[in-house]
Amino acid sequence: MEIITNEKQAKEVLKDFNETALVPTMGNLHDGHLSLLSKAKEVGEIVLASIYINPLQFGVNEDFDNYPRTLDDDLLKLEKTGCDFVFCPSEDILKNIKNYQAPDISKKLCGKSRPTHFDGVVTIVRKLFEVLNPDYAIFGLKDYQQFLIIKKFFNEMNFHTKIIGSPIVRESDGLAMSSRNNLLTSENRKIAPKIYKQLAWIRDNIENQSHSDLILNSIETFKENNIHPEYLSILNPDTLEDAKDDDLSVLIAIAVKLGNVRLIDNILIN
Ligand code: PAJ
Repeated sequence: MEIITNEKQAKEVLKDFNETALVPTMGNLHDGHLSLLSKAKEVGEIVLASIYINPLQFGVNEDFDNYPRTLDDDLLKLEKTGCDFVFCPSEDILKNIKNYQAPDISKKLCGKSRPTHFDGVVTIVRKLFEVLNPDYAIFGLKDYQQFLIIKKFFNEMNFHTKIIGSPIVRESDGLAMSSRNNLLTSENRKIAPKIYKQLAWIRDNIENQSHSDLILNSIETFKENNIHPEYLSILNPDTLEDAKDDDLSVLIAIAVKLGNVRLIDNILIN
C-alpha cells in the first residue's frame, strides 16, 4: 500500500490506473469502514482510501477537537484489507479550496441541527474527487442523507465518478458501528442498542399501523429508556419528504443524543 500526501504525487502515481474505487473516510476505522473497502474491491480494480478529518464539516460546538485520531492503526487496517493507495492530505488541501453548496435536501433531518455540515462535506468530497479522479466512490448507507446528497450533487454536475451505497454494519447487539460509539459512557453504551431495536420494531409493524402511531409509540418507548430523539421520521428515500402510510419504499431515520454523543441510524425498506 502506498501513501499519497499531496495533489502532485496523486496525479503522478495514479495516472496509469483505470477502474479506481475510492472510500473517503475521516479515519478511526472500524469494520463499517472496512466493509466499504470490500465493496470497492468488488466494483473496481484499484482500491483507494482517504483519511482526512475535514474541519469544514464540523460546526462551532461540534467535536472536531475531540475527534479520534488513530492514523497508525488505520493504516495497518487498510493495508490488511487490501487497500492499494491511501491519500492522507495535509491541511494544504484547504488552501484556495472552492466552497460548494449542498443540494436542498441538506436542509432536512441532520441539516436542521447542523446547517453548514453538508456544504462542508460536498466541498471536501469534490476536492478529493478532483485530486484522485476515481471511477467509483463508495459511501455507507449509515449516513443515508450524506449518501443521497453526494449522489444528487455529483449527478447534477455530470461528474463521471459513480456513487455507490453500501449497507450498514452493526455491532452484535444491533448498534450501528460508528467512531462516536467509543465516546459513549458505559451506561449510555448499554442503552444505545435500543435505537436499532425500535427502528426494527417500526419496520416489522409498518403494514399494520399508521406512520404517526408508529412514531408516537416509539417516542414513548424511547422516553421510558431515557432516549430523546432529535428526529424520528418515516420518509420517501429519494426526496426525504414524509412518506405516505401505503408507500412501499421508505426510509426510517433517527438521530439521538446520548449524553453529548450524537448518533444516527436508519432502516431502508425497498
Ligand atoms: P466517516 O464518518 O469516517 O465515514 C466514512 C464512510 O464510512 C462514510 O461513507 C460512512 O457512511 C461509512 N460508515 C460509517 N459507519 C458505517 C457503518 N456502520 N456501516 C457502513 N458504513 C459506515 O462520512 C464521513 O467520514 C465524511 O463525511 C466524509 C464522507 C469522509 C467526508 O469528509
